[in-house]
Order: sequence, then C-alpha cells, then structure tokens
Amino acid sequence: MIKLDSAEYAKRRKALMEKMSPNSIAILASAPVTVRNRDVEHPFRQDSDFYYLSGFDEEHSVLVLIPGREHGEYVLFCQEKIKEQEIWTGRRVGPEAAPDILGCDDAFPITDIDDILPGLIEGKDRIYANLGTSPEFDQKLMQWVNHIKAQVRSGATPPHEFSALDHLLHELRLVKSPAEVEVMRHAAEISAEAHTRAMQTVRPGMREYQLEAELMQIFMAAGSRWPAYPSIVGAGDNACILHYTRNDDVIDDGDLILIDAGCELDYYASDITRTFPSNGRFSEPQRALYQLVLDAQYAAIEATKPGNHWNQPHEAAVQVLVEGLVELGLLEGSVDELIESQAYRQFYMHKTGHWLGMDVHDVGEYRVDGEWRTLQPGMVLTIEPGLYVAPDDDSVDEKWRGIGIRIEDDVVVTEKGCDILTKDVVKEIADIEALMSA
Ligand code: GLY
Ligand code: MN
Ligand code: MN
Repeated sequence: MIKLDSAEYAKRRKALMEKMSPNSIAILASAPVTVRNRDVEHPFRQDSDFYYLSGFDEEHSVLVLIPGREHGEYVLFCQEKIKEQEIWTGRRVGPEAAPDILGCDDAFPITDIDDILPGLIEGKDRIYANLGTSPEFDQKLMQWVNHIKAQVRSGATPPHEFSALDHLLHELRLVKSPAEVEVMRHAAEISAEAHTRAMQTVRPGMREYQLEAELMQIFMAAGSRWPAYPSIVGAGDNACILHYTRNDDVIDDGDLILIDAGCELDYYASDITRTFPSNGRFSEPQRALYQLVLDAQYAAIEATKPGNHWNQPHEAAVQVLVEGLVELGLLEGSVDELIESQAYRQFYMHKTGHWLGMDVHDVGEYRVDGEWRTLQPGMVLTIEPGLYVAPDDDSVDEKWRGIGIRIEDDVVVTEKGCDILTKDVVKEIADIEALMSA
C-alpha cells in the first residue's frame, strides 16, 4: 500500500504554520470514538484534518502547533503505552516513541493535557481550532482558557482571539501534491477494477448486497481496508434514490443497476458511479437516456480545465441534458427557459460534482469573494451527471419511468485540462455490453 512519507506531513505543518498569525497556537483533536450499539463501537476513522497534519491514526490524541516555539513547534498528546490496556484495545505508539515515529518535537500522555496545555496557550494572542465540531472539545478549550484567566492577577495573559483553523487548513487540502495525486490514482484504479468486476459477475436474481460483496472483495484484496463511503447498489427503481444504501433488493432481469462505490486508500477517497443493465443489454429507453447522461459527462469533462470556474462543468452538463430531454420529449419548452426556471430538476436534482480528497465530499470553498472558484492544477473533483425518472412520474411516457442513471469519474485538474483517474472502467454502451457478454 502506498503511504505518504513523513516529509510530506512536515511540509504540511510548515505550510500551515506559515499562514498562522504571529504569536498564535493551533489545537486539533483526534476523531471521537462513537458507539454503534451497546458495547460495539463504529470502526475508528481518524479525523481527516488531524491525519493530514500528523499521519497518526490513534484516538484520544490532541495535536498542537506553536510556530516559533523554542523547544519545538509540534507537540502531541497521545495515549500512554499501558500493557493492561493494550491487551484489550491494541498497540499504541505512546509518548516516548512518538517523536521518532511521528516527528513531533514533544509528546505527552493525554491524561496530562489539563496540566500542560494551559501553559502552552498562556501568552499567545490567538488560538486556531475547529470550533463547533465537538461540544466536548469546545468545552475543554474553554476550560483551558479559563484556567489561564483565573491567574491574570498573577500576571498570566489569556488569548483574546479564536480563529477557525479549517479556514487555513482546508485551502491547503484543496490543492493536492503530486504524492497525494498518486495515492488517489491508485485508489481510483482499485475502484475501477471493482466496478469492472461487478459488471462481469452480476446475474438477475442476485441481491444487491451480493453484488456489493464483489466490490468489497476487490477493494480489500487490493489493499484498501474500507470503502470511502457506504456503497450504493440500486437496481431498477432503487437507482432513483440518490443515497440508497439498503442494497437488499433482488436484481430483476432488465433492471438497470446503479453502483456508486469507491475505496479509501491511506485516507484518500475514490468515488465512481457506473450504471449498467442486469442482463447485459440496454433496452431502447435505457440506451437513449444513458447516452444522454454520457454526452453530458463528456461535455462537463471538457469544461474542466484551469481558468474555468467551478460551476462551468455543471453548466455544460445541464445544457446537454436539457437539450436531450426536450428532444426525447421528457421536457417541453425552450431550452433556455427550462434552464432558467430549473425545470430540469425534476430529473436532475444534484450538482455535477464535488471536491474529492481525504473526505469524499472534500473540503475547500466553492466560492471565493462571492464568485465561483477558478479551477487550478492539483484540484481533484468528481464529474457525475445523472438522470432520475421517478417510478410514479406520470408527466412522462411510461417507458421512461423508474430509470435512474449516473456516470461518475474522478478527475485531477492539470496544466492543460484534466486527467481522468478512473478511466480504467468502461462507460461507453458498446464497451459495457461487450464486457458483460464476454
Ligand atoms: N458517493 C457520493 C457522491 O457521489 O457524491
Ligand atoms: Mn460523488
Ligand atoms: Mn459517488
């Protein structure tokens, strides 16, 4: 499995500290442990911001950055190595080994944080933190600051400004380094293989989750421990439910199957959607709508290049979709008016993509100073137009009803245009039919 090296994490911390104001401190907590039911916890997944800066995947940890601190700018609080606890919950790095393994300057037991952290905050003008994400952490932060305030008569100076850490950090995360793009390319290749496998193995009569098992098999065999999000495997009408994850229906002969699934690799997401017929042959109505979505996707990819703004791929996709919907008789009226009034939202109710990175819906602003953001090399996004005709939509001919289609690829913006990371899985009708009949 590809892992980023420690120099990459050091570079990120340095870049963040260069953006912080003078005499400030950044404090970031690890992800919470959450309960699934009674004694069972959800699998722990480190907070993406925390992992971006540390590469450290343990719970109950706090990362502190103090630009210019003489005794070291990077301080970590983490769980101690305690044999009796490690027997139950697994191995820990521990504060002694943390500097060597993680590159921090100082590491302390998390149980000592209330004694140590106020001393690190004291005298700083500003605290950067992800306020509002965890009430427990916000409360802790106030306790540490109040501890300092209680000592002002002894000369202590509490910070007087709080700033959003994510505002600085997410700008860094938005533009991917070459090393990050390589991990994302690998994740995309694994997911492409999984989608190919699903097309090859599907048979009418299977349950949707049995097809999901084929995806999981490829993800894990290829070195990905988890999907980046719950896989969507929707057959027939279920393809029209945008966030369908029950995946427990029987796949019927003649259904279109929409699979939206991507693996996570070393904390980077991939996100692919393919739609294909359960029996290997598109019917005429399925074929017509599928080709329309594919044409819209090509138009959106064409519009994904540096200098274009964030919304241009979406606008390009909508233009093609609306023209096609009018031609096929699903919408009536002038194309411009249907776009203006957003009447197409009856069949296309989401946007054409999102940033992709450590989070599947990744961080980064879509607008800057009120204007759509300009695309630049290193940004990674999805291109995922779709059409969804509700099964009970009696405003259209019966033959269209219950057809749901989405085609989604992951692309990285390059100097000249964009590079499709997920190109290894077919999407042309002829190629899908050929693969499925082989
Ligand atoms: N898989 C979530 C999305 O496509 O946005
Ligand atoms: Mn997506
Ligand atoms: Mn998706």
